[in-house]
Amino acid sequence: MTILFISESDNPDEWRRALQKLIPNIDLRVWPNVGKRSDVHTALVWKAPYGALTNLPNLSLIQSLGAGIDHIFNDPQRPKDVPVARLVDPELTRQMVEYSVLAVLSRHRRIDELRRAAADHLWHVPQPTPFEDSRIGVLGLGEIGLSIAQKLKSFQFLVAGWSRNLKEVEGITCYHGATGLKNILHSTDILICALPLTPITKGILNKDTLALLPKGAYLVNLARGEHVVEPDLLQLIEEEHISGAFLDVFQTEPLPESHPFWKHPSITVTPHLAGLTIADSAANQVAENIERIAMGKSPLNQVDPAQGY
Ligand code: GLV
Repeated sequence: MTILFISESDNPDEWRRALQKLIPNIDLRVWPNVGKRSDVHTALVWKAPYGALTNLPNLSLIQSLGAGIDHIFNDPQRPKDVPVARLVDPELTRQMVEYSVLAVLSRHRRIDELRRAAADHLWHVPQPTPFEDSRIGVLGLGEIGLSIAQKLKSFQFLVAGWSRNLKEVEGITCYHGATGLKNILHSTDILICALPLTPITKGILNKDTLALLPKGAYLVNLARGEHVVEPDLLQLIEEEHISGAFLDVFQTEPLPESHPFWKHPSITVTPHLAGLTIADSAANQVAENIERIAMGKSPLNQVDPAQGY
């Protein structure tokens, strides 16, 4: 069973070890050392160079090493007839939920204000923020968004979620479609973006949509930088319509040294680490998909190219 591994940020030795525990005869080749091209059956990829997946005549699965698959669909030379699977891994989801809780609680418990006071050695005790003033809106109710919404609900926050199509989730106010987007934004104090990146969601957070949030609202983005029109966000923060943001993803990564987000006192920047793939955990889904393909079945979490997720 030959797998072509293409990623600069994941460790091929860890993946080889993790996969061999599940499928002993695995032959993991690390790009660009492809060897005999017709051997390759599965490509395990994160941000592969465009064209790297061409001329692999027996390729039957493109498996993302992350939850997002935009990096695969962006490649104009991607073999269109090969199924693409996103990674749905409990550990990845757990980390994304953890990151969201961190961001929401930092804002709710006013960490920035406390840090500023502490820098002046001030024993500053703000009144608690009523939980009704931290209404949460989660954009995207897929595996990750839904888990985030449900965890935050367990803190007794008022939680709403938005998805493209109608969903019903107990305890979560669900909105959908274009009208639903306006409605959720109107009633959200802390907005969390957990959307897949598709042509429809690209730039979805811009000056028009962000302006629908109540004054003082806060943005958490752990999805993709391209969801946010960065100059619009900055402008709304400067105008004090948005009070700040907790951002893990950016239009350009690494975030350029001169980018204004770095120095902004109301913006927390983290280097795209909200959910990092851990081979030992994620190998389970990958191995299962390899076996499914070998049995002529479709892979788990196959992406619908028409929807882009
Ligand atoms: C990370 O960005 C992922 O898509 O898993």
